[in-house]
Amino acid sequence: MYRISIILSLLALSHTLAAQTVLVTGSNRGIGLEFVSQYAERDWDVIATSRSPMDDYDLQALAKKYKNIQIETLDVTDQHEIEALVAKLEKRPIDLLINNAGLLGDRSKQQWGEINKETFDQLMDVNVFGPLKVSEAFSKNVIASEKKQIIVLSSIIGSIGMRNSPTPLPSLAISKAAVNMAMKTVATQLESDGVHVAMLFPGSVQTRMMHQAFGMDIEEASNKKDFDYGFESLTPSESVTKMISVIDKLDRSKTGLFLNNDGTEIPW
Ligand SMILES: NC(=O)c1ccc[n+]([C@@H]2O[C@H](COP(=O)([O-])OP(=O)(O)OC[C@H]3O[C@@H](n4cnc5c(N)ncnc54)[C@H](OP(=O)(O)O)[C@@H]3O)[C@@H](O)[C@H]2O)c1
Repeated sequence: MYRISIILSLLALSHTLAAQTVLVTGSNRGIGLEFVSQYAERDWDVIATSRSPMDDYDLQALAKKYKNIQIETLDVTDQHEIEALVAKLEKRPIDLLINNAGLLGDRSKQQWGEINKETFDQLMDVNVFGPLKVSEAFSKNVIASEKKQIIVLSSIIGSIGMRNSPTPLPSLAISKAAVNMAMKTVATQLESDGVHVAMLFPGSVQTRMMHQAFGMDIEEASNKKDFDYGFESLTPSESVTKMISVIDKLDRSKTGLFLNNDGTEIPW
């Protein structure tokens, strides 16, 4: 009897000590790369996905440093790649799914009077269909995990309640409002399975996307380091540290909410 209780205690302990797993989309740069780095540092098993891992030198360097990073190919708009990764990961539990991949869209192709259908469709595909489909596809892995959390990187630009003047990025704003509803759908759908879902605003973060928002082309935006936006901004490291402390506290009381990087609610 004594032996059995020792074995049971050891089993419970090994379960507690088992590494948790996070899957990140769009993990080759910016905020996604920083999530990979910080969760790897915390000893989580990290499944870092990107569209073209062969070209992702920063991600490859990180995976050399941390053996707990596994790199996988995933374009969030590609149904076949999603299915292939679901099949590869099979029943592997995923404690935290971070839908980070996102697109800003060409500024000049979403100005009032110039709203372009191709740009609009692309934004809806990557920013809305992507997280919705990825969440649906990996939901069984999340349900099978201990923490059962799903996050999307949303934006304050998609807040309908806070929109009282025109935005230079209307198609992006519409896609972020739409992804909030997409993830609310995921939250309500998976609530009875104990899954907790949040739409998180990372703050204004110094990444290629933010530089593009200021009109830089991709090359200039990729190489830009210090840039004065004229308002307070965060480094990816500062933003991700803040978001991780919000994710750590995500429970039933917060599921389905649109949250700032300090955990406070943002109006829909
Ligand atoms: N930076 C901010 O201030 C800010 C504010 C609010 C919200 N956000 C959100 O935070 C998230 C990350 O943005 P970021 O600032 O880190 O931007 P970023 O540096 O431009 O990174 C965007 C990431 O998304 C990936 N991506 C784009 N399309 C993809 C697709 N079809 N499939 C898979 N990955 C794809 C990119 O990969 P490639 O290299 O292959 O293109 C890249 O890894 C986005 O959802 C963004 O909307 C950012």
